[in-house]
Amino acid sequence: MFERLQTRPADAILALAQMYRADPRSTKIDLGVGVYKDANGHTPVMRAVKSAEHKLWETQDTKVYTSLAGDPAFSDAMIALVLGDAVARDSVASVATPGGTGAVRQAFELIRMAQPGARFFVSDPTWPNHISILNYLEMNVERYRYFSEETRGVDFDGMLADLKTARAGDVVLLHGCCHNPTGANLNLTEWQAVIDVLLETGAVPMIDIAYQGFGDGLEEDAAATRLVAASVPECIIAASCSKNFGIYRERTGILMAISHNTEARKLHQDTLAFLNRQNYSFPPDHGARLVTMILTDDELRADWKAELEAVRTSMLDLRQQLADELQRLSGSDRFGFLAQHRGMFSRLGTTPDKVETMREKNGIYMIGDSRMNIAGLNAETVPVLAKAIVDAGV
Ligand code: LMR
Repeated sequence: MFERLQTRPADAILALAQMYRADPRSTKIDLGVGVYKDANGHTPVMRAVKSAEHKLWETQDTKVYTSLAGDPAFSDAMIALVLGDAVARDSVASVATPGGTGAVRQAFELIRMAQPGARFFVSDPTWPNHISILNYLEMNVERYRYFSEETRGVDFDGMLADLKTARAGDVVLLHGCCHNPTGANLNLTEWQAVIDVLLETGAVPMIDIAYQGFGDGLEEDAAATRLVAASVPECIIAASCSKNFGIYRERTGILMAISHNTEARKLHQDTLAFLNRQNYSFPPDHGARLVTMILTDDELRADWKAELEAVRTSMLDLRQQLADELQRLSGSDRFGFLAQHRGMFSRLGTTPDKVETMREKNGIYMIGDSRMNIAGLNAETVPVLAKAIVDAGV
């Protein structure tokens, strides 16, 4: 029966994590998988999460199933966090999902059910798992230009030109903030221009927002998502709690389908619950419950926000340190983009050969496309990385 199974190509991000673990060098530096690390290379449980877990342990008296869509209080709290008051609450259908990836997968399935021939326009590059899941679901993938190798910023003219080729029945996948893997992002004027193209073409936006709070701040990072949701007739949002609550392994995410037609909303809600039932029945609850407790308790929420803000500013400091050190060593301003990028990642914009040289010679692990996890650095490793980059001739 299983003879026809084939070996699958390894996921580049996860394969790199394995290589890093196998490297015996004590000086190795992990800039691979997107996980926040403090200056000691540790990924701590956030204080508010610990407190909520403690409280939950004391007060939770049942583990009985929630509903297929997850606890409604989680939906309310997350919709408010991501969307603020951009849209009416009753225009949003939502389900809790196993992580942001679960939300992405359910979104793709929802769209496949609604519009089997839909083309998905994805940024070039995008998070590789977007494409992998779309291919697995046998959906059509189109790439729109996004990253300029020259400026290491967004190729905005190319992006708009490519998005203009979308049409009604297509989906445009956008990163709400902190673009993964490049770190290059649109400003709000550019977002407005993208919205204008969406309205012209009739393509539906799907926003993946996995790093809210890691870029310019919790509200600032949600601004584009809110603007899109308020401006278009229909919109899908996949949000992750993995990074901003640091609860990676708890698998906590949410999928929202927004429609300003209340009839459609009910259908969306029923379909999303159906999809949860088909795929895993009830979504995981532990992480979602912690998030709900934190977002609905003034003290826990304030503490979470303060810790998240410290995480965000530490990454900004590392960006600046790295850009300054590279400027000093190279005598040029060409690495200034590192301080402009936002979120956990920056794409250095170099060849896989040079990435490999840095791995072999210096024990620096970044993804083959030269994506670096800035949170993998600290004050001691910034100069080591900067020297390796300059020595490799980047
Ligand atoms: C990443 O891009 O490194 C993270 O989103 C982790 C993952 O699952 O790939």
